Amino acid sequence: MWPCADHSGTPCLQRQRTKTVAIAAVALSVCFLVFQFVMQHKLDSYRDVMNSKLRFFKAVPGEDTYLYSAIANFHDPEEGKLNIIITAFDGSDINYECCVHLDDKTLLRTPSKLVYGENRATAKRLGQRFSERIHGKPDENKLKKEKQYHCGVSGNLRASHVTLTSSSCPSNTQDYLPIVYPKTVPADGLAICAKVAFGTELDPNVLMEWFEVQRLLGVDHIQLMDLDNPEPIQKVFRYYSDMDFLELLPYELPGPPYGRGLHESTRVFNQFFHDESLPILDCRRRLADYTYIMGVDMDEVLIPAKNQDLKTFIKEQLQSHPNAAGFFFWTQFFLYEWGPVNQDSDVTMFRYLNSTQPRWECYKYIYLTQRVKHATTHTITPVSPYRQYTVPKEEAILHHYRQCPKGWKTCNPPRITDRSILRFKDTLEGRLQKAREATGISPQSLPKN
Ligand SMILES: *[C@@H]1O[C@H](CO)[C@@H](O)[C@H](O)[C@H]1NC(C)=O
Repeated sequence: MWPCADHSGTPCLQRQRTKTVAIAAVALSVCFLVFQFVMQHKLDSYRDVMNSKLRFFKAVPGEDTYLYSAIANFHDPEEGKLNIIITAFDGSDINYECCVHLDDKTLLRTPSKLVYGENRATAKRLGQRFSERIHGKPDENKLKKEKQYHCGVSGNLRASHVTLTSSSCPSNTQDYLPIVYPKTVPADGLAICAKVAFGTELDPNVLMEWFEVQRLLGVDHIQLMDLDNPEPIQKVFRYYSDMDFLELLPYELPGPPYGRGLHESTRVFNQFFHDESLPILDCRRRLADYTYIMGVDMDEVLIPAKNQDLKTFIKEQLQSHPNAAGFFFWTQFFLYEWGPVNQDSDVTMFRYLNSTQPRWECYKYIYLTQRVKHATTHTITPVSPYRQYTVPKEEAILHHYRQCPKGWKTCNPPRITDRSILRFKDTLEGRLQKAREATGISPQSLPKN
């Protein structure tokens, strides 16, 4: 039968047109799906290529998950067990299983547990609400967040390698992280978790001053990650690594967006927050046996008002606050734009003696490792029943040496002159002299900026 036995030809034409449109639409959708499939395939194979170039992370095949370190301990979170904490960037929402290579050559497969960060699937399974921390962008789901997974091994066993999987355990040792067993540390040890050094904003001379002041303040150890630092900075790092004061760990930024860095011009928001936070998580675990950890950057120095070292200072604070998990400090900014107060010294920290009044901004902390679950750049999460305290500005100040922060209304707030750092004058100059000779770096050897 003729399909369009109508009185006029118009509806017939319309129907045919509808049909053509329908066919075109189907064809377009198919094209689109094929295109998407091809693109996805291209992206996947591009990711495989990029992943094969990773030097310090292990990519979980097919997932947006990158494992950095596996650090062992025997009491946290489970006493008497081998606890392996994997620190990772993770953009997936997967309940991973652990593949653990035991020392007796057997392979153990066991569920992992998320101990830092959030995972939608886990939250759902536990009936919890998934509360994503959003910094204000809709692409939050694509971010690779810093997470920590726990792999537990009971029965007095030791293990050498570990990885996470959503399918089967890889057979190649290359795909596993070696498990780190932290060295024993001095009793009453104080360490700094200093995040990442990423080069050109650092002045190697100020960096030497920073290391030396920390030594004079009684700091025992510093952990820091190295993201593509130039040779003068590397020389300084080698000098302090060789004396066992610094542990420099290699760093890179895996996964998309590719080619990002941490400089103002190369950082990508909001991935930047996560790129900067992973080193703090790693450090908290690697240095878990230190009694105290201080979170400061390479342009910050904590100076107690009394002429005392930091351990004596913390013990005094603990006498007033026996239930303290950690202490927070006020900041004074010593802005380079203002020019030096003391022209005669070639030590930057002795030249720039003018600062803002103490501000509650960029505050940092010292915490007791046994009393703190996690730390981020500006926060700590105390273990109950411990709590955090703010140290009165009359008792200690964080000195922050830098250019005027971008967000300030004025770079000319009232100035004060603070000479407290001059207490280190003689000792610091002697130490610096040695460091300058050993590294070949001195204020004269570099062009002034
Ligand atoms: C430093 O601060 C004092 C006030 O405390 C002021 O008189 C002086 O001009 C300032 N110098 C510089 C270089 O900022």
